[in-house]
Amino acid sequence: MERTLSIIKPDAVERNLIGNIIKRFEDAGIKIVAMKLLKLSKAQAEAFYAVHKERPFYGELTDYMSSGPCVPMILEGEGVILKNREIMGATDPKEAAAGTIRADLAIDKEKNSVHGSDAPETAAQEIAFFFTEYELAG
Ligand code: CMP
Repeated sequence: MERTLSIIKPDAVERNLIGNIIKRFEDAGIKIVAMKLLKLSKAQAEAFYAVHKERPFYGELTDYMSSGPCVPMILEGEGVILKNREIMGATDPKEAAAGTIRADLAIDKEKNSVHGSDAPETAAQEIAFFFTEYELAG
């Protein structure tokens, strides 16, 4: 069964939107098989987003991602990588389809409430960043 990494980002945790976001995944038939609430250090945020190191927004993005708690989760289901991306909507909430998490809840393209892996290889890397096999529910 396919797995992906989802993160409820600091802007959404701060606004008490954890339950709202998890309900959308559960209502779509997606299973949460691991979950934690933690605050990334600046160095951890830099490591997680290393692929964006050359982007002009890297400094701000990693400041923001280390500014407060976030909720990384492993989601499981058939085609869950794509399904999660559909439920999240486009990176910029102004471009996200109606009814998606980002259209409904995100603040802007940086504080966009959720992260989701974009492909099987990144899903595997991102899951390993946050979780060991001992932390999986099954
Ligand atoms: P995410 O899916 O977590 O992957 C990279 C993140 O960088 C993205 O969501 C946004 O939070 C952030 N991001 C992408 N583009 C921009 C931008 N132009 N300005 C600021 N932040 C951005």
